[in-house]
Amino acid sequence: MSNSDNQTEAWNIQRLLEWTTEYFQKVDAETPRLEAEVLLAEALGCQRIELYTRFAEVPESEPVTKYRDWVKRRAAGEPVAYIVGHREFYSLKFAVNSSVLIPRPETEHVVVAAIEACQQVEDRPIRILDVGTGSGCIAVTLAKHIENVKIGAIDLSPDAIEVARQNIDQHEVADRVKCFTGDLLQALPAGSQPVHVIVSNPPYIGSNEQGTVDPNVDLFEPAMALYSGAEGTEVIERLISQSIDFLLPGGFLIFETSPIIMDACIDLVNGCSQFASCDVVKDYAGHRRVVVARKV
Ligand SMILES: C[S@@+](CC[C@H](N)C(=O)[O-])C[C@H]1O[C@@H](n2cnc3c(N)ncnc32)[C@H](O)[C@@H]1O
Repeated sequence: MSNSDNQTEAWNIQRLLEWTTEYFQKVDAETPRLEAEVLLAEALGCQRIELYTRFAEVPESEPVTKYRDWVKRRAAGEPVAYIVGHREFYSLKFAVNSSVLIPRPETEHVVVAAIEACQQVEDRPIRILDVGTGSGCIAVTLAKHIENVKIGAIDLSPDAIEVARQNIDQHEVADRVKCFTGDLLQALPAGSQPVHVIVSNPPYIGSNEQGTVDPNVDLFEPAMALYSGAEGTEVIERLISQSIDFLLPGGFLIFETSPIIMDACIDLVNGCSQFASCDVVKDYAGHRRVVVARKV
């Protein structure tokens, strides 16, 4: 995609996309065509779908310069979501930066399980805690989909909380979602009311798995969002034991984990006599992904 090529054939939208798709294929990008389209649409300030009606158009040099720079960054491994500054989750747009994990599709199962759990709650308002909120994707999505709800969104990282606040404002749910910075449930003020549901997508990769993780995840996403002790269970273990004091009778603890440590997580829940049941939800790929534990 050099400027000298311009002299022979114009760099119209179709050609830019074709060139970039081929380039991304060579550097092993996950979804070359899609990523090229997302970057170009963002650089041009249009919807991705609009590119298809503008194939023959030759864009101005300013957006193309920006696009070239972004293509280089992507080719160097930086995730598209960090480059464009947002990612879709549960059909909502979330601002992201390198302080927060990029929301993943499998985390949508936490949202679905929480919505189902809330259907079994008669009290109003329903009180929910999202522990390790990151971008706030779970908390905000629940606030958008559940009526009469109050949500506490907690994160140890002040920078992550800043991003969560941005998303809370953007989605106009500040009246329903309040942020707390600190370690798990200890972040809450003394005397906080117990809740009906605790949701979490905690860090759950063990340091013993380092080397098996996608190098670009390790390089670009925050370690605090990924790693949790030697086996991956450190944060989950503390979350399970702290949850007991913060859940109402019959309340739900719903958390994402990895299939690798799913059995260990089930054992941790079953080791607490205060939990009456422990169910598992599979993700889109059929992997055991989400634990739904119910307090007695
Ligand atoms: C896997 S990310 C999940 C982010 C977001 N909820 C999502 O699903 O995309 C885990 C989050 O937990 C936060 N975290 C890690 N340890 C924590 C702790 N001890 N207390 C509170 N938050 C913690 C990290 O900063 C990170 O934002």
